[in-house]
Amino acid sequence: MEQIITPARRLFGAVRLPGDKSISHRYAMLSSIAEGDSKITNYSTGADCHSTLGCLRALGVAMEIEGTEVTIHGRGLDGLQAPATDLDAGNSGSTIRMLSGILAAQRFSCRIFGDESLSRRPMDRIMRPLAQMGARIEARDGRYPPLAITGAPLRPIEYVLPMPSAQVKTCVLFGGLFAEGVTVVEEPIRSRDHSEIALREFGAELTVHKRRITLQGRPRLTGRNLVVPSDLSSAAFFLVAALIVPDSSLQINAVGLNPTRSTLLDFLLSIGANIRVTNLEQHNGEPIGDLLVRSAPVRGGEVSGEITAALIDELPVLAVLGAASEQGLVIRDAAELRIKETDRIRTVVDNLRRLGVAAEELPDGMKIPGGQQFRAARLDSYGDHRIAMAFSVAALRADGECVIENAEAASVSFPEFFDILCHVAE
Ligand code: S3P
Repeated sequence: MEQIITPARRLFGAVRLPGDKSISHRYAMLSSIAEGDSKITNYSTGADCHSTLGCLRALGVAMEIEGTEVTIHGRGLDGLQAPATDLDAGNSGSTIRMLSGILAAQRFSCRIFGDESLSRRPMDRIMRPLAQMGARIEARDGRYPPLAITGAPLRPIEYVLPMPSAQVKTCVLFGGLFAEGVTVVEEPIRSRDHSEIALREFGAELTVHKRRITLQGRPRLTGRNLVVPSDLSSAAFFLVAALIVPDSSLQINAVGLNPTRSTLLDFLLSIGANIRVTNLEQHNGEPIGDLLVRSAPVRGGEVSGEITAALIDELPVLAVLGAASEQGLVIRDAAELRIKETDRIRTVVDNLRRLGVAAEELPDGMKIPGGQQFRAARLDSYGDHRIAMAFSVAALRADGECVIENAEAASVSFPEFFDILCHVAE
């Protein structure tokens, strides 16, 4: 699908965005292995989170989906059933990596596969710790999907993550739920902690000391009523849009503000953004608040080290902001971007250049000078949801109409993106 984006005079209004993708996956998986029913409100509408629901259904989990409200009838820790067909994770790295921790511990065998993009993403990062736990997993060329998982009893391990990855951390913790004894995971840098919060919420015994997480195996998980906050990574596109389109004023309601995700706000504020946070609340241990953003000149700067890891999903849209900023943006320590849904260093730099914006590709990041004009252009998502949305935001500031090719990719995390953008862009 081609999406035409016309330049905006301003962004104005109040919006509520769909539920957080990371939290939705975790709530669905944990509800399925809990005892009793869970009602999840504001479940993500993204295709990725529906891939997770599809896999869980195939594993014998009964559920009702009414719009964004999902009721899951939990089957308990030992209640999943062998699927009749291979499990389809679609485009979703979270589905295949996190669910594998659960699948490895079952009394049955199964296969899980994904689309072309997912089939190129490395799974050895989860295969290594799971093998230490006693799992038997085979992958194409030893590291790519599809995965053939032969269920086996798992033993607890102490695992030091070689990279900051919440998906790998979660996979080990989910495997640890089925192991008798204590599983310990230590992270090099604190990654998003939705799994830790959710596990406690469902009744698991889990403690966190600095970067070390300790989980007691074989807990009794109990079904819950859960409310998913709106996705801050989706809000990022609207925050940047409102910052770079003059005269904008936008309210984004009930957004998840977990401190392991809200580095985005800290970074934007540190470079001069005009964002106000109000109505702070907590739901199921996750902080939520309203954001009011007004256009403002931002300085730009450098993103590196721990900050890069904390902003990993927002870097494509921050690159767009960098080109419009006063001093430009340098992104370093972001080699992980090369193994996301696309090589996001390449696809960002390619699209910036199409807009007539100078950008330099680095092995682990990019350099984008500031103060640049965006020319009308044909842009391409390359099938990557965050590239589709980041460059739709850039197009709002172009000197004429832009076309986004393969724009349907946005629906992987945010199917309503173009409708909401049309609604607030004047
Ligand atoms: C996610 C973790 C991140 C992120 C992804 C969602 C999660 O991936 O990029 O979009 O929900 O745990 P890594 O853990 O591989 O860095």
